[in-house]
Amino acid sequence: METTTEKLILPHDLVEKVLKVYEPAYHCQNRYLLLMGGAGSGKSFFAAQKVLHRMRHSAGHRFVVVRKVARTIRNSAFQQLKDVAEFMGWKEEFKFSESRMEVAHENGSTLITTGVDDPEKLKSLAQPTGIWVEEATELSAREYRQLDLRLRGNTQDYLQIIFTFNPISKKNYLYSQFYARNNKNAFEVKTTHDQNEHVGDAYEEMLAEMKELDPEYYKVYALAEWGENSNAIIYNYKIVPRMPNTLDEVLYGLDFGFNNPCAMVRVAYHEKDIYLEEVFYRRKLTTPQIIDLMNTRQINQTDHIYADSANPDKITELQRAGFNVKHAEKSVFNGISKVKEYHIHVVQNSTNLLNELDNYVWKTDHDGNLLDDPEKHNDHACDAIRYAIYSHLGKRKQSIIWGHSG
Ligand SMILES: Nc1ncnc2c1ncn2[C@@H]1O[C@H](COP(=O)(O)OP(=O)(O)OP(=O)(O)O)[C@@H](O)[C@H]1O
Ligand SMILES: [Mg+2]
Repeated sequence: METTTEKLILPHDLVEKVLKVYEPAYHCQNRYLLLMGGAGSGKSFFAAQKVLHRMRHSAGHRFVVVRKVARTIRNSAFQQLKDVAEFMGWKEEFKFSESRMEVAHENGSTLITTGVDDPEKLKSLAQPTGIWVEEATELSAREYRQLDLRLRGNTQDYLQIIFTFNPISKKNYLYSQFYARNNKNAFEVKTTHDQNEHVGDAYEEMLAEMKELDPEYYKVYALAEWGENSNAIIYNYKIVPRMPNTLDEVLYGLDFGFNNPCAMVRVAYHEKDIYLEEVFYRRKLTTPQIIDLMNTRQINQTDHIYADSANPDKITELQRAGFNVKHAEKSVFNGISKVKEYHIHVVQNSTNLLNELDNYVWKTDHDGNLLDDPEKHNDHACDAIRYAIYSHLGKRKQSIIWGHSG
């Protein structure tokens, strides 16, 4: 990810009005502009400055300002847009529609606001030319991907999504998408409150107090460092373009489902690195259809396949078709522990698998303490991974490390 640009000068109407630290973000034309920072560092204010400035300087913009929940926009992003227009002396050029929460410039550029909880409005967006996602960590990975798909097409000006957010958790899609791997289309500006001379001492004191009371909060909101405090089970994976050439062995995990998806995952390893790739992930598959898919995806008859042992009949059918399918070891906690011993890499086209990983979390009790059991929802590909790794590698390595445990 990029974090610096060559020195360029600001247009005269922005000089002294934009905080120094955001100057590179003004010039940045990358598809993804990440304004990551602690509380009160001026992220939202700058995002509003950049969006309104672009609307003024070229006609025909159609900006969309998005937040997870539509009703939270009025007092956050929409208010910020009005404050910025006022502060910049641009109020006369723009028309703010309070009821629709929309903005129009006299040159014809427009801005609408919407929540991702309003799918009808999202679908109706006609070719936006720019998006600002306020409090972007609120979105799920899937919601982000759908938004990303909306920004396409040929425009004279560059297409950009601005994300404003606090780095609350490495479990978030923003971390896996932009920080766990090098994304050449992304540009980051990281800021803290002390780079914003417009917030007062009271603010400083409030954050200093947090240092004692809640160090994790202080880390995120004062220092702008990624929070660790999450119930994600597997959060430190990296996304890779393809399977590497050097591998010790390739295995498969298979989780059956009919109304739920049937998931097959390729699991390859090399020393302490595990590589995962979705083979298929589909609902309503009959066993003959599973066999067909395995043939077309070139699963060899000698490959080790570990399948859900709750379906012995399906396993027998696959074995009759010539596949080397075995009953998986299903101990959940031990299986997950084994998976977490490896550095995990996921091949990028594994969309469903990535969605599952982003939402694969430990159950918590009433006090928020983590339990030893994952939440049971959308964990089909995750189960398949666990079956392959624990059944094939679990017992063997475990007997070396904990020789007494059998
Ligand atoms: N360039 C600026 N000129 C004048 N005031 C500014 C400027 N940038 C920020 N401020 C002031 O600082 C306050 C905090 O900025 P802002 O709300 O953008 O912070 P933030 O980084 O979005 O914080 P949070 O993480 O809490 O959302 C704003 O309400 C505004 O009053
Ligand atoms: Mg903000």
